[in-house]
This record gives sequence, C-alpha cells and structure tokens, in this order.
Amino acid sequence: MSRLVVVSNRVALPHNNDRAGGLAVALRAALAERGGMWFGWSGRRIRGESGERHVEQDGNITYCTVDLSYRDFDAYYNGFANRTLWPLLHFRMDLVDYNRETWAAYRRVNALFAERLVPELRKDDVLWVHDYHVIPLAQELRERGVDNRIGFFLHVPMPSSDLLAALPAHREVFAALSSYDLVGFQTTRDLERFQDYVRLFGGGRLIGPGQLETAGGRRFRAGAFPISIDTKTIARQAAVAWRRSAVQTLRASLTGRQLAIGVDRLDYSKGLPERFRAFERHLERHPDQRGKLTYLQIAPPSRGEVPEYQALRRELEGLSGHINGLHAAPDWTPVRYVNRNFPHDVLTGFFRIANIGLVTPLRDGMNLVAKEYVAAQDPDNPGVLVLSRFAGAASEMTEALQVNPYDLDGVADAIAQAFEMPLAERRQRWRAMMDSLERHDINAWRRSYLGALSAA
Ligand code: G6P
Repeated sequence: MSRLVVVSNRVALPHNNDRAGGLAVALRAALAERGGMWFGWSGRRIRGESGERHVEQDGNITYCTVDLSYRDFDAYYNGFANRTLWPLLHFRMDLVDYNRETWAAYRRVNALFAERLVPELRKDDVLWVHDYHVIPLAQELRERGVDNRIGFFLHVPMPSSDLLAALPAHREVFAALSSYDLVGFQTTRDLERFQDYVRLFGGGRLIGPGQLETAGGRRFRAGAFPISIDTKTIARQAAVAWRRSAVQTLRASLTGRQLAIGVDRLDYSKGLPERFRAFERHLERHPDQRGKLTYLQIAPPSRGEVPEYQALRRELEGLSGHINGLHAAPDWTPVRYVNRNFPHDVLTGFFRIANIGLVTPLRDGMNLVAKEYVAAQDPDNPGVLVLSRFAGAASEMTEALQVNPYDLDGVADAIAQAFEMPLAERRQRWRAMMDSLERHDINAWRRSYLGALSAA
C-alpha cells in the first residue's frame, strides 16, 4: 500500500499527547496502518526566518515540521487564517478582515510548506491535506511538479457562494481547491454550497454529482464525509471516568441539582453569549425550575492574540457576572464559568453526570462535543442533548432537541423540556443517536474518505 502523507497546520507530535484529541488519534492510526508522514507547523515561533525543518521518527510515522517566524505566524495564522477565512467560513462577513498583507503571508507560508514538503515526497504517496490554513497547498505542489493523488478535507463550514465571492481573492483561494483530486466537506449542504460557488463564481461547471470541471478542463471530485468520534473508546472511558475524583467532586457540589454542561473553545462561532442569555431567559420563563439546575460552561481560551477573541472573553466575563449577580441565591450559583481545559477522560465523566448537554454554536462544521456528549451517557439514564441546527452534527443527530441559537425563548424552552424529559423518551432519543454513532465512528470516516480518494 502506498504511504499516506497528512498535512495540517497543527501536528500532534508523538511526545505531545495532552493535545491529541480524537481526530489526531484517528489520523495517527491511519498513518500507522500504512506508514507515512505528518507534515505541518512545528508549533515554534522564532525570531529569525521561517523555514527550519524538524524531522522526527516514531515507529513507521515520520513527523516533519517547519518553524515560522513571529511575523509570518502572526500574519498567516492570527491574520488571514483566523481573521479572514475563519469568520468568512462561519458566515460572519461582519468580522472579515480585508488586509492584503496577511493574504500575502498566507500565500508565502503555503508556498514555503510546499517547498519543504516536496523533497520528502515519494512517487506514489497519497496526500491528505486538512483545513482552511492550507487551502492553496495542492496548487503550490502542482506548480512544483507534484502529480500525486492529493485530497483535501474542510473541517469548518462552507458558506453560501455569495459570501465566498465577497472575498477579493476568492478565486485564488477557493478556485484553487480544484488542484485537489477530492475535496471533502462535513455535510451535503456544505458540498452543495461549494458546487454553487464553482458554478456561479469559480468559472467551472458541474458535470455530475460530486464531479466538477474547471474552466481549464481539470476534473476533480467533491463529496460529503461527516466526521465522527471514537465512539467505543469514549463510551468505555466515560463509564469509568465518572469515578474520578474531579468528577465526583463536581457531582457532590451539585447537592442534588441537575447539571447542564457546555464545553467549547472560547470562540465567537460557538454562540456563548447567546447561550448565556438563553440560560438567563430560561430562569425568567421557567421560574419553577429556578435553583434546580446549574449550568457549567467550560471554555478554554483560544487564539488569544486575535482582538475579536479578546473582546469575546471580556463580554462573557461581564455576562456571567451579570447573570450570577442578578439570579444567584446564597447557596446556588446559576452559571459556573471556567476558562481552562480538562483531561479528555475527565470531560467524558463530566458529560456522563450532566443531565443536559448544551451545544448551541451559531455555526459549526460538525461539532464533536455533541457526539461525545451522547457517547458518554449512561445507557440506563441518559441525558438530553440540546443542539444548534446550525452545527453540521444536526443533520445526523435528528433526535436531539434542535434549536436556533439566536432564538433565546426557543433555547430556554428546550432547556426546560430537557429538564423535565421522562426517562423513556430520553432513552429512545439517546439509543437512536448512539446507534448511528456506533455505525459511523471516526474510523469509518477516515476509511470512507481515503477510499473515495483512491477511487477519485
Ligand atoms: C477548529 C479548526 C482546526 C483547529 C481547531 C483549534 O476545529 O477546524 O483546524 O486546529 O479549531 O484551533 P487552533 O487555532 O487552536 O488550531
């Protein structure tokens, strides 16, 4: 079997297991199965020039990473990736930054990645490139004579073509996806919006379902491959993790009250201010439940050098203080707001003891917390998932209580419905979602993508 080469901005290096989430573990498994290389940013910012390469071997996996200068990192990652593409891809045109210098740096870093990767490649390697940081990579590789099979997977949403076309460089960014052999999206809606873009603004055409052709005649494929979790491992982990002291301490602190939990990176796409307000609305609309439900929001800070993220952090500090000041009782704090991360198995224990999972992003490519919350439940006494209809997960998890995260009354009423839901209904909803997560786990995801890539 040919080698697999995975490319992504962040690389889960072998000695760095704390950060390795389910996706990292699955990609490593894919690499270990056939041998291969993981290529990307080293995680190091340096004072000098970008480009120093580090190579590390772990079993049959080679990790090859590249240092970036402070200046390049700032413009490529904090700038074009996270102040231009991230808001645009999450339908937030109001937050898009149009800086031409960060766009130049984004191209420069992608060209540098291609330059450093080319000497490492073997003739029959299959490449799998991940996410919006490295969209132009295939084009850069093709210009350097690489004609290997190259696939791309977009972890975030693909917005409507009108939004994409608002980016001055939209052709250079999005039409460049045609240099891949297969472009993967999270849902069929994302796929359809991309196909519309190619047709309406990208100068290409649709020649069949999932088959596209550029103006220059290059044919490529696109498809929907909803990402998932390691369902069995998470269920197993949660079944023992609830005994851990951090989980028991949390449970004891509830003194018999129900728990609603949210776990999200501190990101404006996650709808946290709206969720806080919806929880407050629940207190106002359902006074009979007041004092009987505690909401724990875990929100580790993310991209803290980007001004929009700093502003969000301040906003949430204000909101949680406001809600608690107004609604708390001497023996009850409605919102517990925690800006730090926890070991993954502790989180699964938290999920298991939480009666309600609140996953209400304004937009999300998939949202794996929704899937993990379900996988972590006690089959005999499962909790209820309240899920935004704007998360990719909503298209599969139809038995969740689906909400529009902007509709505060609707979210408040869904929380109340979850609070009161009878056991039989909770079980029936949970079983249906769990069956689908068992059938379609992270390994099924990577197999179906890689199968489609080798057939493309
Ligand atoms: C999202 C993106 C990933 C990214 C992750 C964490 O899930 O799709 O590409 O790695 O957020 O964000 P960060 O900026 O810390 O890498």
